[in-house]
Amino acid sequence: MCGIIGIVTGKSVAAGLISSLKLLEYRGYDSAGIATLQNGNIWRERAAGKLENLEQKIKEVGVVDGGIGIGHTRWATHGAPTEVNAHPHIVDNVVLVHNGIIENYQELREELLASNAKIMSDTDTEIIGHLISRQLKINDDIEIAIKTVVAKLRGAFALAIMIKGQEDLLIGARQGCPLAVGIGDVEGHYIGSDALALSPFSRQIIYLEEGDLVFASTNSYKIFDKSHNEVTRQVNHIEVQNAAMDKGNHKHFMAKEFFEQPDVINHTLAHYIDLESNKITIDAKLDITKFDRIIIVSCGTAYYAAMVGKYWLENSTNMAVEVDVASEFRYRNPPLNDKCLFIVVSQSGETADSLAALRLAKQKGCTTAAVVNVATSTMAREADIILPTFAGTEICVASTKGFICQISVLATLSIGLGLQTGQLNQDDAIKMTQELAQLPRLINQCFEVESDVIELANDIAKVEHVLFLGRHTSYPIAMEGALKLKEITYIHAEGYAAGELKHGPIALIDEKMPLIIIAPDNAVYEKTRSNIEEIAARGGDITVFTSESRAKEIQKLGLKAIALPDCSEFVSAFVYTIPVQLLAYHTAVHMGTDVDQPRNLAKSVTVE
Ligand code: M6R
Repeated sequence: MCGIIGIVTGKSVAAGLISSLKLLEYRGYDSAGIATLQNGNIWRERAAGKLENLEQKIKEVGVVDGGIGIGHTRWATHGAPTEVNAHPHIVDNVVLVHNGIIENYQELREELLASNAKIMSDTDTEIIGHLISRQLKINDDIEIAIKTVVAKLRGAFALAIMIKGQEDLLIGARQGCPLAVGIGDVEGHYIGSDALALSPFSRQIIYLEEGDLVFASTNSYKIFDKSHNEVTRQVNHIEVQNAAMDKGNHKHFMAKEFFEQPDVINHTLAHYIDLESNKITIDAKLDITKFDRIIIVSCGTAYYAAMVGKYWLENSTNMAVEVDVASEFRYRNPPLNDKCLFIVVSQSGETADSLAALRLAKQKGCTTAAVVNVATSTMAREADIILPTFAGTEICVASTKGFICQISVLATLSIGLGLQTGQLNQDDAIKMTQELAQLPRLINQCFEVESDVIELANDIAKVEHVLFLGRHTSYPIAMEGALKLKEITYIHAEGYAAGELKHGPIALIDEKMPLIIIAPDNAVYEKTRSNIEEIAARGGDITVFTSESRAKEIQKLGLKAIALPDCSEFVSAFVYTIPVQLLAYHTAVHMGTDVDQPRNLAKSVTVE
C-alpha cells in the first residue's frame, strides 16, 4: 500500500511527480504529497484525501519546481489520514516518503523522545527521518547514515529519500515492499513502487531485491545489496500500457473492467488452450506425479478464486487440495515439503501476506506456482512457475476481471492436471475445454440480466444486511458476492454455504433479511432448493439467481428469480459471478458511493 515516486533529472520534476501519482493512486488515496529541492531549499505540498485535493492546493499556492523530487499517495497505517501525517515528511534536512510498516517504531519513537526529538506526526515514517538526521549529525557521510538507519528498522518498507542541499542525489531502499528503479527514456533516474508508476518516463526497469539500497543521480546510479556490497542488477525492458487508465465510455473503471470480462477470459484461455485442437498446454515443471498434495493460498477475492479451484482440482485430480488465506497460512507452521505443489493466486503479485506465504513454501522445498496478473510483479519473479492471467491492468479496487481470469487459469489447470493423473480422459478434457470455449458468449448473455439486477440493487441499497448463499462452487461465489457488496457499498453482507444456514445463521431470517441465493441447475440444485424453501417458510426476502430452466419453478413458489443462461456445472462459477458483481456495482451506483476507490481500501495490499 502507498505509492512512492522519486525523480532526479536536473529539470522540472513536479508535473512528472503528479502524473506518476495518478498512476499510483490505486495503492492508496488517504492523502498525497510532493516535495522538491532547489537552490538549497525544500518545497513541499501535502493534502488529506485524494490526489485531486493536492492538485487543487498546488493550483492555488503555485509550485516551486526543482530538478529532484519525491511524491507519495498514502494508505494510512500509523496515524489518521490527515495532512500532518501525509508524506513527504521533513526532518531537518531529510525529506522522505515511505510505503510499509516499521514494526519497531514504538521503541524507536520512545528512544527519540527521550533524546528530545520534536515529533510532529503520528507516523512511523517521520521516525526514520529523525534517525537519518541524527545519524547525519554524527557523521555527514550520507551512504553510511542510510545504511546505518536502514539496518535498525524492522518490518517491511520501501523508501525514497532526498537530502536538502544534495540536489543530484535520490536514495531508495527496499525491504519487504516493492521498489523499482527506472532509467529515463530521455534523461535522469526514477524510483517508484512499480513499473506502472515509472511508465511515463522509463522502459528500462530494475527491480530492487530485498535489502537493496540505490543512490541515483541524473547521470548514474549505484545499488548496494543487503550486505552493503555494490551489485549490478538486471535491467528489464518493460512496456506498460497506459490505455488501461482510460474509462472509455463508462462512468467507472469497475464497469469498464466488468464488461471486458468476455475478452479477458478469451485472452487467458488462449494462453493455455488451443481451441482448434482442444489441447491444453501447461508448464512442463507442473508434473503432478511428483506431488501428493496441492496447496492454494491467497487473499480476498483471490482466495475465493482459490476455493472455486479447489472444487475443480479435487474432482479432476482426486488429490488433496488445501486452500488457505495467506495471513493465516504463514503463521500456522503448516507441514510442507517437496511433495507439495504450492500455488499462490494474486492479481497484483505484490500482496504482502501472499508473497510471504510463497516464500515460506519455497523455503520448505515446495514447487511454487503463481497465478498472477502483473507479469513484472515480485510473485511472478519469485515463483518457480508463472501461470499468467491476462486481465490487463485492473484499476478499480474491487476486483472483477482479475477474479474471472484467476478462475479461468484454475479451470484449465484442473483439466491439464486431471489428464496427467488419469482421473480425466481425453473425452472428458475435450468436453471441458469446449465448455470453457463457450464462456465469452455465455458471459455476454449474462449481461442481459442487468436491468433485473438494477431493480434488485435499488432495493438492496435500502437495507443494512444481506446474506448470500450457495453450494459447491456457488459457495465461494456467494462469498465473493458478499465481499464485493461490502467493499463498494459498505452494506454488511456475508456469504454462507447454503447447507450451513440451519446450524446457526437461520436465526437471522425474518422478512427484513434479504437473501441472494445462487442456485445453478447442477447436481446440488435440489439440495439448494430445499434450503430455499426452509428460508421461505421463515419469511426471508429471497431472490434466487438460477438457470432459465429453473427460474419458473422458483417463481411458482412466489419468490423472485433472476434467470441466467443455462450452462454446465463446470462453468457455472463463471456465469454466476456476473450477477453478483452487477448487484454490487448497481447498488453502489444507486447509493452514490465511491465505486472505484471505496473508503479505507487500496488496490495493492503490501502490508501485512
Ligand atoms: O492482488 P491480490 O489478488 O493479491 O489482492 C488480494 C486482495 O487484496 C484483493 O482480492 C481484494 O480482496 C480486492 N479488493 C477484492 O475486490
